[in-house]
Amino acid sequence: MSRVSQIIETMPPSGIRRFFDIVSTMDGVLSLGIGEPDFVTPERIRNACVSSLAQGQTMYTSNHGLLELRQVISGHISKVHGVEYNPEKEILITVGVSEALDITLRAILNPGDEVIVFEPSYVSYKPCVVMAGGVAVAVEARSADGFRVTADIIEHAVTEKTKAILLCYPNNPTGMSLSAEELERIAALAVKHDLIIISDEIYEKLTYDMSHLSIASLPGMKERVITLNGFSKAYAMTGWRLGYIAGPVDILNAAVKIHQYVALCAPIMSQTAAIEALKNEGPEVEEMVSEYNRRRHLIHRGLNEIGLEVPMPDGAFYIFPSIKRTGLTSEEFAERLLFEEKVAVVPGTAFGACGEGYVRCSYSISYERIEEALARIEKFVRSRE
Ligand SMILES: Cc1ncc(COP(=O)(O)O)c(C=O)c1O
Repeated sequence: MSRVSQIIETMPPSGIRRFFDIVSTMDGVLSLGIGEPDFVTPERIRNACVSSLAQGQTMYTSNHGLLELRQVISGHISKVHGVEYNPEKEILITVGVSEALDITLRAILNPGDEVIVFEPSYVSYKPCVVMAGGVAVAVEARSADGFRVTADIIEHAVTEKTKAILLCYPNNPTGMSLSAEELERIAALAVKHDLIIISDEIYEKLTYDMSHLSIASLPGMKERVITLNGFSKAYAMTGWRLGYIAGPVDILNAAVKIHQYVALCAPIMSQTAAIEALKNEGPEVEEMVSEYNRRRHLIHRGLNEIGLEVPMPDGAFYIFPSIKRTGLTSEEFAERLLFEEKVAVVPGTAFGACGEGYVRCSYSISYERIEEALARIEKFVRSRE
């Protein structure tokens, strides 16, 4: 008999990791596969951490996180989204959105409860639902709808066992966001069926031609929305492992119970840095966003000119072109492109079965390297015509 839990044994490994194990053995690869900013954390944020260390701040914090950090987060949400969260009871500091997602699901799910997850989506959603004892019900954000999930599609998947809808916008891997009208329809659906909404808004600040609307800010939604957010992407702080949950007290209390046993608290140095990030907001985030935006236009134009059709993404730093004209599967495309032209992209199937026929390209590498990658992709595609 296996010594490993059946749940874990039957869980497929992440499609991204498997692929990047190959990439890591090769030289000279241009990687459009990376899911993190290519910028270093802004200096003033790094300095805040250094000075907190110099002052000997090396202890545990409260399980909830430093009160000052919760206060600045609460102030930030109030200013940007007009939603008021009590920093003492309705905000919990976590080890990245990763932990926030895990403990939120464990806080709300009973065995067999269903969570509606749309695909293509971030690789952790389904496994985290399963590890929390739930059932992940995948619905497709269709390419015909510009990869935007609709309330109609979600409603078809609602059953008596549905407990929550898991949203992510702007989305990883498609970069697509949701319009105010669609969010209103999804909110109405949640009310009609008495569902919780878990909203992963980690790419909130990386939104280009539209403004980001937090679903918790819609009338009557604060009590049924759990917002997950963090510092990894907007502030280029992936290695700091810092995120937060903003949500209703009963669910927050349940999440804190799990958090106190499994994580205790997020690292104090990262919390101190995050206070600086939000409290003394400088031009850095805007500068990074404007550089991503420049690259977004370049890669969108380049891929379409090559014939790999793709709509303009709304946010994040991903684009999800169709590779169907090459006649290759997503895996074949990614592997051959890697071996023949040394460009790494992620097969669309890593984000759900409906990602077949697509690949994820990340534009979190320099403008010049994207130009070079596009030239190599063009050579690869032309060689198959
Ligand atoms: C949609 C989404 N949510 C959550 C995460 C994880 O974020 P964190 O670094 O805060 O754990 C990622 C990372 O790629 C992501 O793309």
